[in-house]
Amino acid sequence: MTAGRRRVPNSVVSTAVPIPPASTSAAPVHRVLGIETSCDETAASVVDDGTVIVSSVVSSQIDLHARYGGVVPELAGRAHLELLTPVLADALAQAGTSVSGEGIDAVAVTYGPGLIGSLLVGVAEAKALSLAWGVPLVGVNHLEAHLFASLLEQPDLGWPLVVLLVSGGHTMLVEVTAPGRYRLMGATIDDAAGEAFDKVARFLGLGYPGGPAIDRIAEEGDSRAFVFPRSLPGDGYDFSFSGLKTSVVNTVRKHPDAVTADVAASFRLAVVDVLVARARRAAADVGATALCLAGGVAANSLLRRRIEEACEEDGIGAFLPSRALCTDNAAMVAAAGWWRLQHGGASPLTLGADPNLRLVAAG
Ligand code: KG4
Ligand code: ZN
Repeated sequence: MTAGRRRVPNSVVSTAVPIPPASTSAAPVHRVLGIETSCDETAASVVDDGTVIVSSVVSSQIDLHARYGGVVPELAGRAHLELLTPVLADALAQAGTSVSGEGIDAVAVTYGPGLIGSLLVGVAEAKALSLAWGVPLVGVNHLEAHLFASLLEQPDLGWPLVVLLVSGGHTMLVEVTAPGRYRLMGATIDDAAGEAFDKVARFLGLGYPGGPAIDRIAEEGDSRAFVFPRSLPGDGYDFSFSGLKTSVVNTVRKHPDAVTADVAASFRLAVVDVLVARARRAAADVGATALCLAGGVAANSLLRRRIEEACEEDGIGAFLPSRALCTDNAAMVAAAGWWRLQHGGASPLTLGADPNLRLVAAG
């Protein structure tokens, strides 16, 4: 008889040593340390009152993964292990404190969604600091953190808002009726927008990450040179990008002399046309006061220009976070964590990583 293999949920740390209760000190939380390691950015940040960025350090692993044309999960996890300590030390030093954690009232960490090995590095570090410093720990949903990036630069945004969250792993339209109150209006049914940028860039030999590479070269190309399909016509809010990617591949194979800048510009226009049309309709349908962008693809120059124009025409606000706050960072994690703590959301020290965590309506 073979020994049965017991599945150990990753939220269970150890059964031999009793786990001390998480610190839930009733002291007001003013200064939060945020930690982000869900994908290929190792980041730490100190934020006051959920709005004032005191320090924000991001160490990107782009060079490490570039030669493979995408993020290699095993390498990402190992790199986080090496980078997190110096990144943390830097963020704490810039905030006038040290690894003693003086003045830090809570530790917020991304616990999902993302790469399991990468998430675990941040979660383990956050737990250790929370325990050592005797301050509350709060687990943050990475998607919710992206939504909070907008509030960091514009704390007085009006409600309801529609947020177009476009990253390497997600593409969704979310109605936000107040901080923490979300309704998922639509999402991609296949590739995320950032994933489509990365895959098309790899096919065109433009390197990794593909979004910025396509964005740069597209500025010199003719966006009307090729007409690529606009996905999922109709009145829903979902997206689809895999057919578009296939169409680019087929077109380039048929026209091997096609100018790369023209292909990139035509592809970028097709993605942006769909994103803007859906987001604009979603904002009109819920009577949104403003449309916000979030996630790495929100750094795209054409998307930013087109959203601004659309919102001006529709007489609603457009909020485009600075590029540094669109891509992965820990300031948005600290901001979301601060808000969660105000609403009783401290996490136990048994907090586990959840690679498939979803954005759930809350509040
Ligand atoms: O939010 P993010 O930093 O990480 C995830 O949570 O996925 O987003 C990374 C994604 C990548 O797919 C990258 O190619 C894309 O954002 N990206 C862009 C631009 N800058 C980053 N896509 C289009 N245009 C850009 N300028
Ligand atoms: Zn992200």
